Amino acid sequence: MKMWSGRFRQPLDPQFDEWQRSFKFDVRLLPYEIAASSAHARALKAAGILSSDELISILEGLDELGKNVATSPELVNKADAEDIHHFVEQQLVSLIGETGYKLHSGRSRNEQIATDLRLYVRDAIDRLRTALAELCTVLIEYAEHSGNSAMPVYTHLQRAEPVLVAHWLLAYFEMFIRDADRLADCLKRTNLCPLGSGAAAGATLPLDRRALADELGFNSFTANSIDATSDRDFVLEFVNALSVLAVHLSRWSEEMILFSSQEFGFLGLPEAYSTGSSAMPQKKNPDLLELTRAKAARVIGNATTLFIVVKGLPLAYNKDLQETQEPLFDAAETIESLLPLITGWMRSAELNYRRMQEAAESGFMNAWAAATYLVNRGVPARLAHEAIGKAVQLCIAQTCELKDLSLDQLREFSPTFDHDFYSSLKQDAVLAIHDVPGGTAPARVKQALADAKQKVESLRERVNAHA
Ligand code: ARG
Repeated sequence: MKMWSGRFRQPLDPQFDEWQRSFKFDVRLLPYEIAASSAHARALKAAGILSSDELISILEGLDELGKNVATSPELVNKADAEDIHHFVEQQLVSLIGETGYKLHSGRSRNEQIATDLRLYVRDAIDRLRTALAELCTVLIEYAEHSGNSAMPVYTHLQRAEPVLVAHWLLAYFEMFIRDADRLADCLKRTNLCPLGSGAAAGATLPLDRRALADELGFNSFTANSIDATSDRDFVLEFVNALSVLAVHLSRWSEEMILFSSQEFGFLGLPEAYSTGSSAMPQKKNPDLLELTRAKAARVIGNATTLFIVVKGLPLAYNKDLQETQEPLFDAAETIESLLPLITGWMRSAELNYRRMQEAAESGFMNAWAAATYLVNRGVPARLAHEAIGKAVQLCIAQTCELKDLSLDQLREFSPTFDHDFYSSLKQDAVLAIHDVPGGTAPARVKQALADAKQKVESLRERVNAHA
């Protein structure tokens, strides 16, 4: 039986009927639909609409239907359901008879879909934060393992200054921990229960909204029935948070692709996550990284779709909102499938510390430190910059590094140079002067590592507490 056929004289055009259905994708929501329906049944009993026996029969029926689908997936394949709400009703009625139809008392699919989607997003946020904690842990392990190895940091993709490899890895850590934080923030506004909002104006029966929210583990219930049934901000926020995460993954992939090229040689591609070329026998290609870079486009596309679907909608529910489901599922599933792969990739990638170190020792990356030497001896920064710039120019002409210039040569550019200048050029000295919180001085990086561990621990605790 359709959910709404009473007022219709003609059947639906079969092609239209098929086309407007959401069951093929909203079937994912089955566990949430069952949980929300059980909560609603209890509220109906409390409101005097269901007898104890009817409640038991409905709860057992819902439970059985969940088990049946788990053991016989063909139930879903051969179902003739418009959407997940219709499917549950059909199955329930086939299991327990007409009492099943009582479940729909005082509720609307508009609040049901809003509830199911919130539960879906909430679970996805939990899983994604856990996966991010894993990725962050691997980054920390690598950072610890890299000890005091150095590498160049680039600006404009030109060598800029030496940094600890750990410092570079912790930069990615910060991005991913922010992503976890953004998801937690989104969870605050997601974790509210729309049940009891009805179609738009509020339930037509005296349902205990607090009990409904509590039973489903929501922090509270939504404040306005019109908003609750038409709001998809939590979907927009979630997929936008995923887009930022996807951009981070994409930037990370891009850098790993560059660094794994023979030109950089900073890391070896793990064979388990690379492929060969059917034509060129020597090739090992970074497919996982390239696909990750491209998947970001897909997630950003989903976020854009969502904005455009919602932007023109008058209040309250409109069927357009059904079109928010696929971009949501696609974005969540894309990122969820990616994170463990990237964590695995990272675990098996081999950083070439020797190559990184070599690169960090040439290319005048101590030039700013050299200028700082002069600044510390009273030379105005602009003039110090100019003097070192000229010294660099001379080095380029003579194909040497700053340390190779004699004191006499240096004094042509500034009389302030002295013997101790040479020790200020050494990499250890260059690293050590970046001695501010967040800087690459080894002691600061050590502190940053300790802080990072703390952040991951607190992330794991918060995920467990759904906070
Ligand atoms: N499948 C619908 C959706 O995803 C469920 C809500 C239908 N509500 C309605 N008034 N037709 O949005």
